[in-house]
Order: sequence, then C-alpha cells, then structure tokens
Amino acid sequence: MNEFSAQWLGLREPVDHRSRNQDLQAQVIDYLTQMKTVYPGIVRLTDLGSGTGSNLRALAPQLSSMQHWTLIDYDIALLHTARATLLAWADSEINTSILGITVDPSTQIKPLSIIKQNKTIIIEFKCVDLYNDYQVILDEPADIITAAAFFDLVAESWLKEFCTHLSKPLYTVLTYDGTEKWSPPNIIDIDILKAFHQHQIIDKGFGPAIGPAAIVHMQSILRDHHFNTVCAASPWTMDHHDGDLIEQLAIGTARAVREIGTIPRHIVEQWEQSRRHANNCEIGHMDLFAYKL
Ligand SMILES: C[S@@+](CC[C@H](N)C(=O)[O-])C[C@H]1O[C@@H](n2cnc3c(N)ncnc32)[C@H](O)[C@@H]1O
Repeated sequence: MNEFSAQWLGLREPVDHRSRNQDLQAQVIDYLTQMKTVYPGIVRLTDLGSGTGSNLRALAPQLSSMQHWTLIDYDIALLHTARATLLAWADSEINTSILGITVDPSTQIKPLSIIKQNKTIIIEFKCVDLYNDYQVILDEPADIITAAAFFDLVAESWLKEFCTHLSKPLYTVLTYDGTEKWSPPNIIDIDILKAFHQHQIIDKGFGPAIGPAAIVHMQSILRDHHFNTVCAASPWTMDHHDGDLIEQLAIGTARAVREIGTIPRHIVEQWEQSRRHANNCEIGHMDLFAYKL
C-alpha cells in the first residue's frame, strides 16, 4: 500500500472525515453561504490532489443545494476510481447531457451529475500535474480552492509561487504537522519520528518537500499576500477500533525509516512489530482557511 494508493486513501477516509476541524469547517460553510447570498448561483469548488474524492464526500453534504466540483489529480487511475466511488456514494445519478456539460478532452473521464442528500452535485475530473500547471487551474472559475492531505507534499518554492498566484479563498485540511504520540510511549519513538521527518522532506514531485512545516509557511506567505488566515488542529486520534489504519501506518512509517537508513534495521523491526498492534496513536494535522474580505 503506497501513500497515494486507492486502498490507503480508502482506509484513511473515515478517520480523515471525523478528524476535520468542525469549527473551522463551519466557518468555511458560513463564508460560502454569505458569498452566495451576495452572488447567488451554483457554488464552484476546485479540489487539488483529489485522489478518490474523499474531500468532496466530507464537505458536499454540508454545502448549498447546487454545487460544481472540479477534481484535480495527476493520477488518471485515481480519477477513474473517484468517479466510480462517487457514483456508488450518490443517492442517484442525473443525465449530464441534460445539463449541457462538456467532457474535458485531457482526461476523457465523463463528468458526473449526482444527487446526494437533496444536493445536486456536478463533478468534473481533470488529469493535471499541479507541479507544472497549477496556474491554469487557479485561473479557472471557482468560489474556493480546496485540498486534503496535499500541501505537505509540495516544495517551499512551489508553495511561494502558488500563494502569490492565488486570488481565491483556500480551504485545506489534514496537512501533516509532524507530531505523533504512540502509546505506551517508547524512547525509540523519538528517533523513529526524526528519521520519518527526514523522509517527509524527500522530493514528492515538486522539489524537496516542505513536509510538516507546510501550514506554518503557508500561513505566513498568505498573510504577506493580504489573506486572513485561520488554522485549527485536526489530529487523527485513533484507538483499537482503527486497528487496520494503525497497522498500515506502522508498516509505512517503518518502510520510510528504513529508506533513510539512519537507524539499525533490527531496531526499526522491533518498533514496527510493537506499533503494528498499538492500541492508541495520535497523528497531528492542521486545517487552514485563507480568505480576503
Ligand atoms: C495523500 S493523497 C490525498 C488524496 C485526497 N485529497 C484525500 O484526502 O484522500 C495526495 C494526492 O495528491 C495527488 N498528487 C500528488 N502530486 C500531484 C501533482 N503533482 N499533481 C496533481 N496531483 C498530485 C496524488 O495523486 C494523491 O491523490
């Protein structure tokens, strides 16, 4: 299971959804509701690094009755899975041709129109490498840009350019903040986390990744560009009910630490074996909302 596989994203989705900071989300919903009072019509959202559409499934049921989502990912297989997963999640499908939506030739994935909890949701899928083409995406019509578990992957230089080009509100959730608490605590956790952080800053396709520093940097850059920003914690707080995710997390962490190679293999093995069946674990994340009045 790698960090972008549909299997991994599916495993983390329920924990992601319950971990999102509800107060911040309410603030975003309120902002969009007020915006639509002033500028009525369909609310348009562009989700960056959408994977299989988890962010839409979390947020769309809370938004207004007419929505248009554009899901952006560079992995066409994930976008196909997103379409199938969203169709299965919907209460019903509406014929897209009735709505006069055109197919994006770059993806050849048919847009989807669905009804979910009395909301009409039109969904387009775009296969785009955001490393190169984020400007085109940001220039397209949208009321807000969203993302989940995405911004820790990018490089600081890319982040600066992205924030400089950004003119729309941004709501990004579940960015890893580097804090972890495994229980019962073990002295090895400290070395494992240090090595894991080294792995977090390896290039993920944007240049050296910013990793756990992402939200602090973003907040500072966005403020420099006259955005109001609000941050709030959204940790994964897991117990024995989340055993499958805890196990895969321990396996993935140990794999990353082995790649770094600074800790003897038998120590990593020992840590992995004990943490695979840990009963409690907390992984820190942050959500951020940036907007201009
Ligand atoms: C950790 S996953 C999060 C997926 C989804 N937002 C979620 O919360 O389930 C990061 C996503 O970013 C996408 N991604 C990574 N680099 C990208 C790039 N350069 N351009 C577009 N998407 C990218 C991956 O394919 C993956 O779907």
